[in-house]
Amino acid sequence: PTIYVITPTYTRPVQKAELTRLANTFLHVRNLYWIVVEDSPRRTNLVANLLETSSLNFTHLNVESPRSLKLGLSWMPSHTPRGTLQRNLGLRWLRDNLRTMNTQEGVVYFADDDNTYSLELFEEMRYTRRVSVWPVAFVGGLRYESPKLDPTGKVVGWKTVFDPSRPFAIDMAGFAVSVRLILERPHANFKLEGLKGGYQESSLLKDLVTMEGLEPKASNCTKVLVWHTRTERPTLVNEGKRGFTDSKVEV
Ligand code: UGA
Ligand code: MN
Repeated sequence: PTIYVITPTYTRPVQKAELTRLANTFLHVRNLYWIVVEDSPRRTNLVANLLETSSLNFTHLNVESPRSLKLGLSWMPSHTPRGTLQRNLGLRWLRDNLRTMNTQEGVVYFADDDNTYSLELFEEMRYTRRVSVWPVAFVGGLRYESPKLDPTGKVVGWKTVFDPSRPFAIDMAGFAVSVRLILERPHANFKLEGLKGGYQESSLLKDLVTMEGLEPKASNCTKVLVWHTRTERPTLVNEGKRGFTDSKVEV
């Protein structure tokens, strides 16, 4: 089965570094198809060149988040969801194109550009029947969050401190969905409106599965195979002080 990875990304000083690290990881994964969706009014040369030279199989898309979302001036006072429209465009592209691709066997994974992914993770998710789940490190104020399993190995809740009453209290990095299910439920999407922080994942998953249908991976959710790392913004206070760096050099 093919792993379709959907990655939202946006222009900032560390973007090329993030995407380089991600590409280097994905190059070690067989049958991986990378759908990169830029949060920008057009596809940038930086991302296009990186993808072209990566030797990965990919599709390069773009959709800009509305300004109101980016600035946080929206009808959402406390939280601005990131990457939402980009993931939805990736899903739409998949639904439109899978039928003509050689196989409909596979799994969809939403991989943000700044996380850290073990190679083992991809073999765990590859054989997802509907929706598989596993722990994610460094989210919700914990070393790791995890689905809660009963003694028979069924998911019965969430080992999270932050809002465990969410329908699916799981980070974006903690689940994968089979292609078949994505095609079976053509209207399942991430929702923007009226979403509190931490509900984006639930907004998609509740249209796809129930808790009983989840398939725990990573040795019954006892292993951490993905880390919600976040990259420090580089200090660039000396930029623009005349003459030290060449703006034509891509970083
Ligand atoms: C957490 C979750 O891990 C994300 O999956 C979720 O989208 C996000 O919260 C949220 O609240 O919306 P966090 O590390 O805070 O993640 O978010 P980022 O890594 O900054 O952004 C998630 C993805 O969206 C990244 O791939 C990033 O490149 C992209 N993004 C971010 C955009 O496309 N546009 C932006 O303006 C910001
Ligand atoms: Mn992140």
